[in-house]
Amino acid sequence: MRTFIFLLFSLLLSSVHAEEPEIDLDLGEEINQVCAGCHGEYGEGGKNGEYPRLAGLPATYISAQIKLFKEEKRKNMPMRPYANDRELPDEDIPSVSAFLSQIKLTSQMPKFDESVTAYEKLLIAKKVFNIPKLEGDLELGEELYVNDCQLCHGVNGAGKDDSDTPPLMGQYTQYMTKQITQFANGERWHEYSEELFSELEPDEIQAIMAYLSITDD
Ligand code: HEC
Ligand code: HEC
Repeated sequence: MRTFIFLLFSLLLSSVHAEEPEIDLDLGEEINQVCAGCHGEYGEGGKNGEYPRLAGLPATYISAQIKLFKEEKRKNMPMRPYANDRELPDEDIPSVSAFLSQIKLTSQMPKFDESVTAYEKLLIAKKVFNIPKLEGDLELGEELYVNDCQLCHGVNGAGKDDSDTPPLMGQYTQYMTKQITQFANGERWHEYSEELFSELEPDEIQAIMAYLSITDD
């Protein structure tokens, strides 16, 4: 009887286990070594936004996008060799997403006291990341952002915790502009994309981007 109860109990445990995604941050870090070739060691992105920042994005959002790439619902040539079942099986997605999501970049170099060694400073400096200020009509940008985008993307573009909606603060403006073109063309899905993007003039997009480029300062 005892063995039976034990068996039943472990069966129950394993079925509970199977439903929860296994998150292994060490595995996530290991997988990220491949991603880092483009997205940077700390998920800071690169090449002025050719590769988007991934650090600090909500894990649910990162996972959802990887799945969209895998299913080719979001099409991108550079991501193709990495977002497939052989290179990145579904069960590994939560780990790499959680790893990237917990990376904290700061936008300013902190002030140090004398106890901090040069090496420690170097490590901290590697995680300092600030979007360069973009030219544009900041007032118009703020007005458009607050009216049309803030409800979902949060105050200052900071996003919302635990969300499928990405923050826009701290993301490369060049990358976001390219995404908006894709939303407007229907190449990438976005809620209400027709209402939101198809009538935006290039200088209005530039204005929103200019506004977002300074919210992380
Ligand atoms: C060869 C370069 C390259 C490598 C390696 C790469 N990516 Fe990407 N990734 C890109 C590019 C380019 C984009 C932007 C696609 C676009 O413009 O729509 C992207 C976009 C993404 C996005 C969407 C970000 C967003 O804000 O929507 C995620 C998530 C992502 N990559 C995750 C990964 C992960 C995880 C890995 C490693 C398993 C990885 N990538 C490896 C090039 C790469
Ligand atoms: C109704 C909610 C909502 C509104 C309003 C909204 N967004 Fe979004 N936005 C989202 C969601 C959700 C996503 C993620 C889409 C996906 O799953 O691929 C997104 C994605 C994006 C992305 C891609 C970010 C990335 O990392 O790839 C950009 C850029 C963007 N939105 C810009 C805007 C702008 C600019 C506005 C205002 C003109 C706006 N959005 C209004 C919900 C919204």
